[in-house]
Amino acid sequence: MNKTTRSIIFIIFILFTRKNYAQISVDNLLTENLTNPIGIDQKIPRFSWQINTSERNILQNAYEIIVKQNNRVVWNSGKVYSDSSLFVTYKGMPIEADKKYTWKVRIWDNKLKSTNWSNEAYFQTGLLSYTNWKAQWIQPAERSVGDRSVPLFRKKFSISKKIKQATMFITSHGMYEAFINGNRVGDAWLTPGWTSYNKRIQYQAYDVTSLLNKGSNVVGSMLGSGWYHSVLAWNYKGDIYGKDYSLLLQINITYQDGSKDYIITDKSWKTNTSEIEYSEIYNGEITDIRRRKKGWNISAYDDSDWSKVKDTSYPKDILVATINESVAQHEIFRPIKIFKTSSGDQVIDFGQNLVGWVRFKVSGGNSGDTVILSHAEVLDKQGNFYTDNLRTAKAEDIYILNGKSVEETFHPHFTWHGFRYVKIKGYPGEIKRENFEAVALYSNMPSTGTFVTSDTLINQLQHNIQWGQKGNFLDVPTDCPQRDERLGWTGDAQVFFRTASFNRNVYNFFNKWLGDIAADQKPNGLVPDVIPDVLGGNGGSSGWADAAAIIPWNMYITYGDRNILAKQYASMKSLVSYMTASSKNYLWNNGRNFGDWLFFSPFDDKDGQSAVTDKYLIAQCFFAHSTQLLVNTAAVLGKKEDVKFYSDLLLKIKTAFLNEYMTPTGRLVSGTQTAYVLALEFDMLPDSLRLQAANRLVENIKKYRNHITTGFLGTPYIMDVLTKFGRTDVAYQLLFQKTYPSWLYPITKGATTIWERWDGVKPNGTFENPEMNSFNHYAYGAVGDWMYRTIGGIDTYSDAPGYKHAQIKPDVKGHFNSADTRLMTGYGLIKSAWKKSADSLCLNIQIPANTIADLYIPISNKTKEKDIVENNNLLSQDKTIKIIGKENEYFEIQVGSGNYQFKLLY
Ligand code: BGC
Repeated sequence: MNKTTRSIIFIIFILFTRKNYAQISVDNLLTENLTNPIGIDQKIPRFSWQINTSERNILQNAYEIIVKQNNRVVWNSGKVYSDSSLFVTYKGMPIEADKKYTWKVRIWDNKLKSTNWSNEAYFQTGLLSYTNWKAQWIQPAERSVGDRSVPLFRKKFSISKKIKQATMFITSHGMYEAFINGNRVGDAWLTPGWTSYNKRIQYQAYDVTSLLNKGSNVVGSMLGSGWYHSVLAWNYKGDIYGKDYSLLLQINITYQDGSKDYIITDKSWKTNTSEIEYSEIYNGEITDIRRRKKGWNISAYDDSDWSKVKDTSYPKDILVATINESVAQHEIFRPIKIFKTSSGDQVIDFGQNLVGWVRFKVSGGNSGDTVILSHAEVLDKQGNFYTDNLRTAKAEDIYILNGKSVEETFHPHFTWHGFRYVKIKGYPGEIKRENFEAVALYSNMPSTGTFVTSDTLINQLQHNIQWGQKGNFLDVPTDCPQRDERLGWTGDAQVFFRTASFNRNVYNFFNKWLGDIAADQKPNGLVPDVIPDVLGGNGGSSGWADAAAIIPWNMYITYGDRNILAKQYASMKSLVSYMTASSKNYLWNNGRNFGDWLFFSPFDDKDGQSAVTDKYLIAQCFFAHSTQLLVNTAAVLGKKEDVKFYSDLLLKIKTAFLNEYMTPTGRLVSGTQTAYVLALEFDMLPDSLRLQAANRLVENIKKYRNHITTGFLGTPYIMDVLTKFGRTDVAYQLLFQKTYPSWLYPITKGATTIWERWDGVKPNGTFENPEMNSFNHYAYGAVGDWMYRTIGGIDTYSDAPGYKHAQIKPDVKGHFNSADTRLMTGYGLIKSAWKKSADSLCLNIQIPANTIADLYIPISNKTKEKDIVENNNLLSQDKTIKIIGKENEYFEIQVGSGNYQFKLLY
């Protein structure tokens, strides 16, 4: 073949492939919202995909899915006429345990063209039923109560045939790390994660095919105290769930010849102590390197002096497969400064308040020398290492050296710390930058949102919000990551949910946690204040307990999954019943009530500046709000009688509110920002009184010279209410405010995360009450939701949730020259970017396939309608154009998928 013939064939090939491989493809295949998951327990899994195209107005008209197990088709959906591309239910042959299934999908678009088949995705099932656990729970035969050392377990076995597939299923009482032939299994940390252990314990599954050899093998595990044993909360002794350190492990092996084998924990395992002689979440770990059992997890190791284990009959029917992404290692920070404080401490500054641990290299010293790493979030006014705000948490990792000259790397295993600064004592030799790094740990939730503006302070605020989320999303949503708390406070989680869901895909993370809400909710409907509940059932607080209604509803809105509502419906209903039963004449006066937690309250408050909101007024607003969400949910689920019943109840709750908390002229008994914000956000007021209430809110903000005074409960909604009532100008005053209390004030003080209090560091550089002063608390970061939804303008309609029908309405009136907001939705990327110059406004909008969006284009008197139309050939697509908004602020256009660029006179 000569060169010319080859070229012609090449060109024909290109043309041919171009023609067949249309510009539309199907990708990002997810099973139960996970990419190629291993160990799922859903017997009816659900599939999602994205349609990738640059073509305009592409919708899905039909799909076809083929699922195979071992090359056998177990489901061929045939051509299904449907526009569903998220959470499509499997309808094939019964799903079996511990099997790998592959699936692919193709779609037909609204122009009736079909795509090629997608690439294959897979999912591997878990054990599905507890009866498939052959393994026994094992534990060291002897161990004293309160011993916090880390035991080792090991088992030697041999393999004589060729392996096709091997999967490890594992869980523990405590936290485990597992090894096969010296290699760590998987890259998850803090496993099996935290659930309401006495009701549900997660197990994980790992593909370990490549870790096993023909011949002799060893599987081993170490167990740290973890949440099961560690002291949790401030006045408990630990061992809340039990005193045993137990392991349950099973490797299912399928050989090439089809036969099977099981390696299981049973009495034949051996145990010994490890070099980690103490491990607690709050306090950290003590590692004595001299006590190391070198090579303990490889086959050549002699374990003849190891002890026997005993097997126990702990329940297996409470085991559930993990549904959320495990905690993983993420960013690595190198020291930005190594220095000595005026008190003489050797300190490293990593430049970012983060959550995780320090990994460092060390060699030499004398045997028995002790290196102590202490962790702190801040330095005090004098620049000294400050740990008072950690309360009783020691947050120290201690390493006792063996004096050998071989360089080794260490980090803790079953704890984490919240820190920016590390104090180092006893390190042999010079502390060199290259020998220390800080590793960030957090749940491996895919990043979905970015928000970048022309204002560096606001970008720093977004950065701090993101880091508040990273640091407090370690398997459960926590209040803070550093002091003796780190609990799943329900209020904090609900306040931050919407912001969290912009930044990352938190579907699986919260889906798992909602399971624990339902598990720990009392039979009378009381929702404990922390989930998993380790405060002995205390709960029911307004704005905290309501997480049981607010989070499922917001998950539905964000991800469009109706099943979440169906699954949580009983829990939501029970919450509302609890409030109704405890109310008198529909007034909800509950005993436990944190109120508008951490509202603005200046010390030495002589003239009543503190923004105190009546706690029962707040309670009544949340009673109404949760009831409203229950009505909405009942409507989505088609429960007509419930809609009627709870709508009637809602009316009574609102009437009781007006009678009790509002004067005839429409003034609320508390004149605070939070009172007006909640009353307006939750529609507590009659139409006729809303505007004046909004004006009162604005007056209040002016009275505080454009400062925010809300606590946890008012903060998430204040900006939204201002925008709804046409006062985004006032919202910007709050956003750009730099003096205390405000969102930017901490940034002027060098914050790299969101603080618990508006005045974590006072203007004079001193600290607030150390008992309650976390520098990494995400609640006030709840403003992120408004930034995405107002400045970027990205939102979804509740009757087409999950951004199936989106709204793009950027607000360009703030002091920004530009804002670039992006959100990876279930359907694909939504982008809303705008840039102003002296006399023009450029907009760059992207809408994913299989969705539509109402696009609101900001205009001024200079903008010409003709430009908007011609910019994108819009008329040719036969779209209606509406001019809406007061003073012609926007053009409204309904568009389908595609990229839209506008350059407008402005
Ligand atoms: C936590 C909060 C939590 C609160 C309840 C605190 O100790 O840190 O964030 O919501 O208690 O009032």
